[in-house]
Amino acid sequence: MTDYDLVELAYSMLSRSYVPYSKFPVGAALLCSDGSVFTGCNVENAAYGSTICAERTALVKAVSEGHRDDFVRLAVVGESSDYCWPCGACRQMLYEFAPELELLVGRADHTVTRLKLSDLLPHGFGPKALT
Ligand code: THU
Repeated sequence: MTDYDLVELAYSMLSRSYVPYSKFPVGAALLCSDGSVFTGCNVENAAYGSTICAERTALVKAVSEGHRDDFVRLAVVGESSDYCWPCGACRQMLYEFAPELELLVGRADHTVTRLKLSDLLPHGFGPKALT
C-alpha cells in the first residue's frame, strides 16, 4: 500500500468516528509488514475518560489479531488546520511495540508531515526499561 493510500484510508475513517462530545473526528490506519492494514477512529463515551483515540483503536485491533513486532507505518489524520498530533497516551501505547514507527500526520487540507514516533516521544519508557 502506498503512503498516499494509507493516508486516504485514514481520512476515510473520519466518517466512522463517534464524537458527539468533542465533534473532533480522528482517523488512523496502521500498516504491517505483511501488507495488512488496521484502521481506527476515535470512539467517545459519556464518561469522557473512557474515550479511545483513533490510533489506539487501530493498535488494539492489530494486536488482538496477532500483530506485535511488524508495524511499519501509521497514518493519523484530523480535520483541523494544524496536524493531528497523537496524544501522549497514544504515543506511549505505540512506543511499546514500535519506538521507531513511521508516522504520517495529516490535517484538514490532506497535507501530511512525516516523522518518527521517537521524535515525538524521545527517551520513552518501554519494555526494555523493565529488564
Ligand atoms: N483524539 C484522537 O483520536 N487521537 C489523538 O491522538 C488525539 C485526540 C481524539 C480523542 C477525542 O475523541 C478527540 O480527539 C478530542 O480530544
